[in-house]
Amino acid sequence: MKTNTHNAVVIDQYATRAEAYLTSPVHAQGADLQHMANLIGPRPDAIALDMGCGGGHVAFRIAGLVNKVVAYDLTAAMLTTVAAEAQRRGLQNIVTKQGAAETLPCPDASFDVVATRYSAHHWHSFAQGLAQMHRASKPGALALFMDVVTPGIALLDTWLQSMELLRDASHVRNASLAEWTSTLTNLGFAVDEVQKYRLRLDFTSWTERMNTPATHVAAIRSLQQRAAAAVTDYFEIEKDGSFVVDTVLIAAHKV
Ligand SMILES: C[S@@+](CC[C@H](N)C(=O)[O-])C[C@H]1O[C@@H](n2cnc3c(N)ncnc32)[C@H](O)[C@@H]1O
Repeated sequence: MKTNTHNAVVIDQYATRAEAYLTSPVHAQGADLQHMANLIGPRPDAIALDMGCGGGHVAFRIAGLVNKVVAYDLTAAMLTTVAAEAQRRGLQNIVTKQGAAETLPCPDASFDVVATRYSAHHWHSFAQGLAQMHRASKPGALALFMDVVTPGIALLDTWLQSMELLRDASHVRNASLAEWTSTLTNLGFAVDEVQKYRLRLDFTSWTERMNTPATHVAAIRSLQQRAAAAVTDYFEIEKDGSFVVDTVLIAAHKV
């Protein structure tokens, strides 16, 4: 084992997957991405943060709306890919910065817009990462939070986290919508709007994107074949292992 911190596990997992996340239809598309752009709208003076930018899809989508986007991620290889793709698309107002969500290196009140998408379930401290987004926001800043959420029911929660962890050792935990809203409210964000979506994950591309070891793929399939009807029905588990998860987009502002 060449890694020993959780952040090192994340970097190890993602370092070779940058291209896969750049081209992933799940990440490059989605009604949530368009809704994020609609909520932001044109803000020619705004400085925006894309926290845990991965392949850069939020940054690419909003770059034309704002003055500057800081694409921030723990994994340097992701940022190399984002910088190259931004250049290819002629987006000159995206800057990349490497680091962890929990230790965001910027002055207080730096951003007019902060956003994170499909990243918070990897953070070793969900609350600390969100606290950094709050600290880094200007008063009144628009804050957008998007991720896969757990239904919160113990049976379904255990199944979701188990499938996620077997697929990707850097998974920490999908929070529930209630956990998201209470954490954000406690930090001093006011929640304005919640959009809920159902997302189908094609089993083969979901596991290939993360380079899931064959033994773990087999374990997920074996688990799925033993699932109770309540589980197969909720996640709409298909014969090939594809299934459906809940995602949310929370729009808030810093009070
Ligand atoms: C699924 S990708 C993000 C997808 C991207 N935001 C999008 O919309 O397509 C998850 C990203 O979170 C990053 N990440 C994981 N833990 C992190 C942390 N603690 N701080 C910052 N980034 C982190 C990973 O390096 C990875 O690039």
